[in-house]
Amino acid sequence: MSNYTEEINRRRTFAIISHPDAGKTTLTEKFLLYGGAINLAGSVKGKATARHAVSDWMQIEKDRGISVTSSVLQFEYDGYCINILDTPGHQDFSEDTYRTLMAADSAVMVIDASKGVEAQTRKLFKVCVMRKIPIFTFINKMDREARDTFELLDDIEKELGIATCPINWPIGSGKGFQGVYDREKKCVIAYSDTEKGTKEGTSTEIPIQDEEHLKELIGEDAADKLLGEVELLDGASAEFDLDEVQKGNLTPVCFGSALTNFGVEIFLKHFLKMTTTPLPRKADIGLINPTEHEFSAFVFKIQANMNKAHRDRIAFMRICSGKFDANMEVRHVQGNKVMRLSQPQQIMADERKILNEAYAGDIIGVFDPGIFSIGDTLCMPKEKFQYEGIPTFAPEHFARVRQVDTMKRKQFVKGVEQIAQEGAIQIFQEFNTGLEEIIVGVVGVLQFDVLKYRLENEYNVEIRLENLPYEHIRWIENKDEIDLAKLSGTSDMKKVKDMKGNPLLLFVNSWSIGMTLDRNKGLVLTEFGRN
Ligand code: G4P
Repeated sequence: MSNYTEEINRRRTFAIISHPDAGKTTLTEKFLLYGGAINLAGSVKGKATARHAVSDWMQIEKDRGISVTSSVLQFEYDGYCINILDTPGHQDFSEDTYRTLMAADSAVMVIDASKGVEAQTRKLFKVCVMRKIPIFTFINKMDREARDTFELLDDIEKELGIATCPINWPIGSGKGFQGVYDREKKCVIAYSDTEKGTKEGTSTEIPIQDEEHLKELIGEDAADKLLGEVELLDGASAEFDLDEVQKGNLTPVCFGSALTNFGVEIFLKHFLKMTTTPLPRKADIGLINPTEHEFSAFVFKIQANMNKAHRDRIAFMRICSGKFDANMEVRHVQGNKVMRLSQPQQIMADERKILNEAYAGDIIGVFDPGIFSIGDTLCMPKEKFQYEGIPTFAPEHFARVRQVDTMKRKQFVKGVEQIAQEGAIQIFQEFNTGLEEIIVGVVGVLQFDVLKYRLENEYNVEIRLENLPYEHIRWIENKDEIDLAKLSGTSDMKKVKDMKGNPLLLFVNSWSIGMTLDRNKGLVLTEFGRN
């Protein structure tokens, strides 16, 4: 096989999904710690340092002390080359968060043990399901009072509709957290409250059959409870089946505490063993296999104006097959141009490192003079195929946008269209009129501020935003079969069209969606649009 097969096969590219505050950052830091990428947990992107570490591409980031766009972290661990894709949470939740998942081969889902499945996890999970990628669960904060373990698993199964398979089982929680039972090794690993930020402390392991020592170690009550739970678990839980895991039907679950660093390395080891090497990807000529095809990649994110002085854009691409060499010529399929990619770089947190080579599974950022769009394919000059496009994700916040100075119509339309082309916002028009009024849809409300800021600073256009009450948008999948004029919706429904003229429906609540479907037999609505 090719000389890059080995490099590709040791790559693991994944995203961490969670609701804000579940512990994604803390877990990421502990992963990096094991990989030796940082010396002290917290030094990469802890909230305390975030204020100083943010890149300076946009004042808004500085003002708010957050990073508006996501980045990629690469590190080595145990022979693996690991790429973690950051999915921004808090207010900076945007379409980029979703798109990042299009570039990942698997996802780690972090759940707060006292809370269970929360809203943002649910949203991100849907995208993973759509892609059928494996999902691994880390139930975090076991050092705090947690919900009942069976209840937590039940919550995942019911809320997300995925079967769970505990890899280990917690012994108590909060002050009573004593460690975990490893189901594969059939032994108990006792928890020692390790110093924050250090590597995992030494732990005691004893076989579960050794009841005498077990009782000595964790106490009689805890031992009895554990033995009972293990018996129940072995009888009731789904059997471990790697094939089902890789298809995304079964999620392996580990328990631990990212902050006190217990169970993190066990989880990382299990995860790396079970997760997948870079996955083949669908193109118009069929599936492209990462190791059997020369270089190819697709653009999943475009970040504008990282450096205001240069007005540059960075196009982030996921390499899908073969090896990338900085000197090689590639074809940009959508632009029908053969070119050298300019300043290929790896963006590590807020630092950029120029790179000479990269392999399938890796993410590179290249200087974009305004030629790339999200979803574009790059391949070898002799080829000309296209990867399947990236879906458009349903915005949840809508506003009507008007420019303050009506004389600046041209700049306004140009600015809004360009920002929409980068994928930061989606724009819609009233169904029966033209561009007099624009409706903007965003996934995260911060994007409204970004739009306002950028129009003022880059296009010299002041705008007014009027929030609209809609929260749900649906594309009409079978638009050619449906007579839109006759469509009978609810009173709160609004018909709009996107810039290509595709019809869409806006709803205030999800109940109205069901009602509209009931009233219009044959109507097929979808949450993910295709470009
Ligand atoms: P996020 O990226 O998912 O938003 O969460 P992050 O890691 O920033 O963690 C959110 C808060 O939860 C942080 O506390 C963090 O220290 C805490 N945390 C994370 N993992 C654990 C855990 O296993 N056990 C406990 N007890 N706490 C955990 P904070 O006070 O909000 O922030 P900070 O000032 O400590 O950074």
